[in-house]
Amino acid sequence: MRKETTSHPVQAMVTGGSSGIGAALVAELVSRGLRVYSVARSAEKLTAQAASLDPRVQPVVADVARPSDWKKIAQSVEGPLDFLVHNAGTLDPVGPVEGLSREDFHRNFTVNAEPVLFLTQWLLPVLRQPGARILAVSSGAAYRAIPGWAAYCTSKAALNMMVQVLEAEWGYSRGIHAAVVRPGVVDTPMQAHIRQQDERHFPLVHKFRAMKQENTLARPEEVARFMADVLLCTTDADFGQTAWDFYQKSELAHKMENC
Ligand SMILES: NC(=O)c1ccc[n+]([C@@H]2O[C@H](COP(=O)([O-])OP(=O)(O)OC[C@H]3O[C@@H](n4cnc5c(N)ncnc54)[C@H](OP(=O)(O)O)[C@@H]3O)[C@@H](O)[C@H]2O)c1
Repeated sequence: MRKETTSHPVQAMVTGGSSGIGAALVAELVSRGLRVYSVARSAEKLTAQAASLDPRVQPVVADVARPSDWKKIAQSVEGPLDFLVHNAGTLDPVGPVEGLSREDFHRNFTVNAEPVLFLTQWLLPVLRQPGARILAVSSGAAYRAIPGWAAYCTSKAALNMMVQVLEAEWGYSRGIHAAVVRPGVVDTPMQAHIRQQDERHFPLVHKFRAMKQENTLARPEEVARFMADVLLCTTDADFGQTAWDFYQKSELAHKMENC
């Protein structure tokens, strides 16, 4: 694991750090001694998070879908950034393709996919070279079609390929490695939003309601521990070449022993 030096603290940025998986990851990384930039739109939630955790949490109020905010996010970082986690995400729009608006579809891509290339581009000057790691939060929906989720499935599939291109371009040339993580089905506000969907727009909603009732959702804290191990306790070769899947954490454990 990378060690803090007197001149440079080990630093991470987590987008979507104010809620769910992102908030749990911010807390986990701070507990492991990192300085963490927590990015989200809600100033109120970020302020409360920073107050409740540690002075090492740096709130960055910004919209990752807004190009004018990318510069602000990049300028918030002092010194080299070791870890960048693209976690901010949205499910919407939900509904069948025949009713899908192009504007809503594009909006989903601007949150879920575009920042992986273009916010990363802005952050490149502050990413540690060599050595930085980029982790993007994917989904099972990137791998199998879910009726009603055209925007979400396709934006997460695009995110997967963006990460592969980053790894192919920068892994060798810059020593910056990129990977995706599948977090499983996690008990967060996004899942609550999924369970509230109308069955006519989202025919599989009953499955997600049943998972909550049967208490089979993963907890954000355990997913955050897995993600922190992926970021901090893997070799460069394993990090960039492995499909990190929370449900396979036992099979992957031997690759996360480098701490
Ligand atoms: N929960 C699951 O079961 C599950 C499964 C697979 C994948 N995922 C993925 O995991 C990630 C986190 O999901 P979650 O379940 O933790 O959801 P969540 O609780 O709804 O959190 C989403 C986070 O993203 C932020 N966000 C949304 N739009 C943003 C924007 N335009 N700019 C900046 N921040 C934005 C939100 O903060 P603000 O609203 O304050 O901006 C919030 O912090 C997402 O990428 C999601 O697709 C979740």
